[in-house]
Amino acid sequence: MAICCCYLSPTKPFTIPPSIQLSSPKPLLRCNLSLPSKSPITLAEPDPIFTSVKAFAPATVANLGPGFDFLGCAVDGLGDFVSLRVDPHVHPGEISISDISGDNNVKKLSKNPLWNCAGIAAIEVMKLLGIRSVGLSLSLEKGLPLGSGLGSSAASAAAAAVAVNEIFGNKLGVEELVLAALKSEEKVSGYHADNVAPAIMGGFVLIRSYEPLDLIQLKFPSEKNLFFVLVSPDFEAPTKKMRAALPSEIGMPHHVWNCSQAGALVASVLQGDLAGLGKALSSDKIVEPRRAPLIPGMEAVKRVALEAGSFGCTISGAGPTAVAVTDNEERGKEIGKLMVEAFFKEGNLKACAHVKQLDRVGARLISSIRN
Ligand code: HSE
Repeated sequence: MAICCCYLSPTKPFTIPPSIQLSSPKPLLRCNLSLPSKSPITLAEPDPIFTSVKAFAPATVANLGPGFDFLGCAVDGLGDFVSLRVDPHVHPGEISISDISGDNNVKKLSKNPLWNCAGIAAIEVMKLLGIRSVGLSLSLEKGLPLGSGLGSSAASAAAAAVAVNEIFGNKLGVEELVLAALKSEEKVSGYHADNVAPAIMGGFVLIRSYEPLDLIQLKFPSEKNLFFVLVSPDFEAPTKKMRAALPSEIGMPHHVWNCSQAGALVASVLQGDLAGLGKALSSDKIVEPRRAPLIPGMEAVKRVALEAGSFGCTISGAGPTAVAVTDNEERGKEIGKLMVEAFFKEGNLKACAHVKQLDRVGARLISSIRN
């Protein structure tokens, strides 16, 4: 049975959320000027311009080694889909999750929109838009495995945020969509935007600050070939648990080391320097050393990836996926095969490998039916 959720009491007067008020004294977010930013200032509730839409959001690699919670990128060809339709059977101002499909594990996902990544982000976007007169029905197709380190929850949230925004005429800019999706991450795994920001914006993204949210898109040269070897073992590493394993304080030498490596990583992305990117990706001395021992075989997998000629290797997000980088697809497949073998030999885990390129687009509308 579908569960509906109302975020605005119909009896309460509607107030404009502070983030979209005309003269907000303190802007909630700042954003790099190169990002497409829209003014969401709209006093009237927007009408839906489509009866249904379908959106896609890509998988993401968060942290990229030394960039814990502030660097991430999107990868193409893997991701989640959200279909959304105007549904007269759903109470106005409410959203209902009608269906969730994917592998067997999706049975674990709640259809209560308040406890579902896609539902939470969709509700946040409805709030930002002030939707009170239209009910929506949402269906989620999970292309990403849960707890895999590929930004599974972020992809659902990003696709849902984009779908709601599109059905009402694309009124919000990327920053508002990231904030909406961030609410979802906060509830399910922790307040970090290094999956949702690249899932929505595509490419490499640096989160310069959270308060206010300040995002910088890092342009990777279009002529350069960059392949991610993503090897996911049959092992679940819930982000909450993997965050609990981290130190609450670090010493000055590790701070200096990780900051310089993160700086080198940003420079390498902008210069399209793959060797530099890989070296920095492999260099984390704070987070990876705590998490790798919790993922059977991870240390051996990294060793094998480096010996096999990848530019660098680390844990993707909170794991358990290992990510290595290379400039050649065929070599990427060979490296992936060796990493799969290492997971089996050293960690007794079955694993599968994908070789994917950078997704430069981010979450997008893939189909729509007009009113
Ligand atoms: N930065 C987050 C973490 C990403 O490592 O916990 C989770 O995908």
